[in-house]
Amino acid sequence: MKHSTQVNLIHQIFDAIDRGTPPMAERFTRNDTSAYTSSERAARERDVLFRHHPIVAGFSSQIPNPGDYLTEDLAPVPILIARNTAGELRAFVNICRHRGAKLASGCGHTAKLFSCPYHAWSYDTDGRLVAIPDDYGFEGLDRAASGLVALPVSEKYGLIFVTPTPGDNNAIDIDAMLAGLGEDIDSYGIASMAHQETRVVRRRMNWKLMSDTFWEAYHIKVLHAQNVAPLFVKNLAMFDAFGRNTRYIGVRKSIEKLRDLPQEKWDLVPHTTILMNLFPNTILVMQSDHAEIYRIFPAGTHVGESVATISILAPEPSPKWSRTMDLLLGVVDQDFTLGEGIQHNFESGAQRKVIYGRYENALEHFHRSIREAIGEV
Ligand code: FES
Ligand SMILES: [Fe+2]
Repeated sequence: MKHSTQVNLIHQIFDAIDRGTPPMAERFTRNDTSAYTSSERAARERDVLFRHHPIVAGFSSQIPNPGDYLTEDLAPVPILIARNTAGELRAFVNICRHRGAKLASGCGHTAKLFSCPYHAWSYDTDGRLVAIPDDYGFEGLDRAASGLVALPVSEKYGLIFVTPTPGDNNAIDIDAMLAGLGEDIDSYGIASMAHQETRVVRRRMNWKLMSDTFWEAYHIKVLHAQNVAPLFVKNLAMFDAFGRNTRYIGVRKSIEKLRDLPQEKWDLVPHTTILMNLFPNTILVMQSDHAEIYRIFPAGTHVGESVATISILAPEPSPKWSRTMDLLLGVVDQDFTLGEGIQHNFESGAQRKVIYGRYENALEHFHRSIREAIGEV
């Protein structure tokens, strides 16, 4: 983040602390609980937000070299991302053209070819079909038209975006999508951090409930009273919208130390947790010495099930990142367990609305952005 922006925010933070109230919207708002329970709504979200919208499908540091690949199974379309022999990124539907086997799984390095585990049709890292064992059984097959189906892919700031729509020829304009947040992300140096660990969490709750818990600081002093609450200024966060994306800054009590320093030495990052929602489903959390990245998806087709990957990226590998992961999973487990209860409550049909307080307005932005994107305004 630009230093001038940091200084500006720190002044606003001190004003809020001195005033005793956080920045607030004009008025509270409401949202329909059907956003979390309607299967029609879920189908529209899956189509618009997870099939036709670019999503973060991995990190550049996972596949730095030619021949490296990773697969993504949580999006509605199975994705294979590979770095070709020239070092360029390629993304494909991870389905063998012969009879539909998953061509690759997990992540790894392929010398030159992807060979299907079923009958060994082989494709190069540009997706061309280059070998069919006993090919006399496929006489007349147009090999050039039987390569892997390509998907739009682009990488920037260490993040790999893919649009999981076969046949989509639109290039992904990452900076246009991030609507000004790219400069911030760039400044944190995520592109030069290495992927340390990823864990997968499945929950019986709508994917938006998983995300909601990040967009207000109101619950921290209650739900997280025993772990992170003592570190943070009570009910204070700085919210800014960047198009449909969100920047949300939780403030640590240690920010008070900056009052004694000259402004040119002010640094926001060590005294805050900077959360960014890369619309729709990727949450990038910048901590002082590492980044945490959540990618949240609807699981299958049920409106009340979700799955998330939680990853840590950091400059240096260390066993401490596993402990960091354990700690953060302990915190979000409190959020997600509570969220499962909310999902159950909403599915009972006994409550039709929720209320977003004036200092919960980042939630209003998140949900309004989704309604706009799916044409429900
Ligand atoms: S399904 Fe892949 S080679 Fe047969
Ligand atoms: Fe929380």
